[in-house]
Amino acid sequence: MSLLCFLAFIFLPVVKCFTEVQMALMVPNDTHRLFSVDIVLPAVNIGILRARSFLPSDVNFTVHYADSKCHIGVGINEAIKLWYAGKVHVFFGPVCDYAVAPVARQTRFWNIPIVSVGAMAAEFKKFHVEDYPTLTRAGAVDFTVFSALIHKFLDQFKWNKFKILYEQQGINVSDDFCKIMSSSIYYTPSNKRKDYFNLGDLGDLENIIISEIGIGYGGMYIGWLEFINGKRDTTLIPRPLQPHILVDLFFFW
Ligand SMILES: *[C@@H]1O[C@H](CO)[C@@H](O)[C@H](O)[C@H]1NC(C)=O
Ligand SMILES: *[C@@H]1O[C@H](CO)[C@@H](O)[C@H](O)[C@H]1NC(C)=O
Ligand SMILES: *[C@@H]1O[C@H](CO)[C@@H](O)[C@H](O)[C@H]1NC(C)=O
Repeated sequence: MSLLCFLAFIFLPVVKCFTEVQMALMVPNDTHRLFSVDIVLPAVNIGILRARSFLPSDVNFTVHYADSKCHIGVGINEAIKLWYAGKVHVFFGPVCDYAVAPVARQTRFWNIPIVSVGAMAAEFKKFHVEDYPTLTRAGAVDFTVFSALIHKFLDQFKWNKFKILYEQQGINVSDDFCKIMSSSIYYTPSNKRKDYFNLGDLGDLENIIISEIGIGYGGMYIGWLEFINGKRDTTLIPRPLQPHILVDLFFFW
């Protein structure tokens, strides 16, 4: 409530005062993306309707949309423009890890909240207090929790060594999605023997399996290839004798 409004409120009790909540929505405008604006904006509007139902009627919401392009530079540039235009009380997004990181570091100095359903990398949790204190991660996927889950599976089956064969990109989620997920699993503290290998362009899988897994990481339970190319090659890979849950989990991801 501005001072003017406050004075008017005292001297002219019939004047109604409005509180305008300015929301900055920063997601890509790209229908191929999981968090495209055409999906997110209707959800934001439903959220506002619900909030209106229990907030005082003089609280109003305005959504300012900016296209983050899922990009490390574009996101922060749009955030700065909105901020200097005086159009932000809260940021919703960016979602992609590389786009949200610089914005979430900056909002600390502006002292305004930022809510993201992305920011999945373990770093956002690890450096929350120092670097991202105004960031709230509200997403379904958090690689820290996911990595802990993977380690629970490894413990359950007493698998004491593992090697991650990963592709850099996920499909249209965010840049380096699979790499960031793999590194979260790899860097989860444990006393297991571990290694990783970037599959690159998925060249010669059979030789990669021999040279990268071989007898060093091989054993009864080689099954990760199924996730890599999405089909089950039972002649090349011995079937796991234990439940397939780990394999299927990766296949799903
Ligand atoms: C997204 O891009 C399309 C095509 O460029 C445009 O018509 C639409 O208005 C954009 N959406 C938003 C929310 O700006
Ligand atoms: C509140 O928001 C609605 C929808 O955006 C708009 O029509 C209305 O004029 C706003 N009211 C005030 C007082 O700003
Ligand atoms: C990923 O995005 C590209 C263009 O950005 C599109 O051509 C492709 O079909 C998308 N793939 C999926 C699986 O949605």
